[in-house]
Amino acid sequence: MSSAISKSSATAKRVLSGMRPTGKLHLGNYMGALKNWVDLQNAVHADGTPKYECYFFIADLHALTTDYADPSGVLGNIHQVALDFLSAGLNPEQSVVFVQSQVPGHPHEELFTLFSMFTPLGWLERVPTYKDQQEQLKEKDLNTYGFLGYPLLQAADILLYQPDYVPVGADQVAHVELTREVARRFNSLYNATCLPEPDVLLTPSPKLPGTDGRKMSKSYGNTILLSDPEKEIRAKLKTMVTDPARIRRTDVGNPDICPVFDLHKVFSDVATQQTVRDGCTTAGIGCIDCKGKVADAVCATLAPIQQRRSELEANPHLVLEILSAGAARASARAAVTMAEVRQVMGVAGK
Ligand code: TRP
Ligand code: SF4
Repeated sequence: MSSAISKSSATAKRVLSGMRPTGKLHLGNYMGALKNWVDLQNAVHADGTPKYECYFFIADLHALTTDYADPSGVLGNIHQVALDFLSAGLNPEQSVVFVQSQVPGHPHEELFTLFSMFTPLGWLERVPTYKDQQEQLKEKDLNTYGFLGYPLLQAADILLYQPDYVPVGADQVAHVELTREVARRFNSLYNATCLPEPDVLLTPSPKLPGTDGRKMSKSYGNTILLSDPEKEIRAKLKTMVTDPARIRRTDVGNPDICPVFDLHKVFSDVATQQTVRDGCTTAGIGCIDCKGKVADAVCATLAPIQQRRSELEANPHLVLEILSAGAARASARAAVTMAEVRQVMGVAGK
């Protein structure tokens, strides 16, 4: 009797996160988010059961808040990001992988509308990304209702699945904080308990410079894509900036200020890191050789990902089926939350 109870497997905490479809993903997206998602998906308790029940989605409506004037790229980007998700190791047998706007019944849109009824404008105006992004993306007119509502749409994405944890980088913490405030206001207004406040699971993100030494970012044009062919990766890394004081082959360098060495720290094993450090500080190794070694390590990391990608590319229907099955599973889970929300907010219909 009691053994049946004590043997019950540890429970899985629910995890949800999303990514905007900005185009093919790069090493920064992978190391700063996607790899972490794959690790969460694969984490198990001592008894072998999964630690987390995972939901990962492509936030295409969020992309539309900034790209509304020219949405022509969004559909293609969704497909590329889906290929990157699956080839990086998200497994639809283990995780619910879906596209935000494809969830049958459109619960993201509905919950966003319902939340908009009681969310004070001041809360949204105070979210730091609102003004920051308007300043950074000056070429786009982001003085819109939709863009102001970006974090509220994100709150709907999150609370819809009643997750325990939201794995995100530091830049998204303010959005999860707003989500918690929205949940609190909802629960207190309607004397409800159905929207528990989720916690941030802060993703550790290693320093990952692009080829120009600045943070790897699509907007700097300094990226290495998960899908770049090996030849291109080697060519890009060959042009990467190094310790600027190391001009001649005979000059010694300082790995601690060299962006190439930052990549070694992420991708190379410790033995290679040591060889490179010794070689650099004694002028025993040239920068070309050093970059060749980092290219070896990056390509070794990407080889299995690219292998899976080419299999998926050969079978585009499979990707569509995976996304549509994911959307159906997301819809079923979202419907549980929406039934409670509609009931307490007095919204008729099913
Ligand atoms: N705003 C997030 C970003 O830019 C993407 C996102 C949308 C998200 N909805 C989410 C992240 C829900 C976590 C949970 O990266
Ligand atoms: Fe940088 Fe490597 Fe050149 Fe040293 S040898 S300066 S670590 S690229």
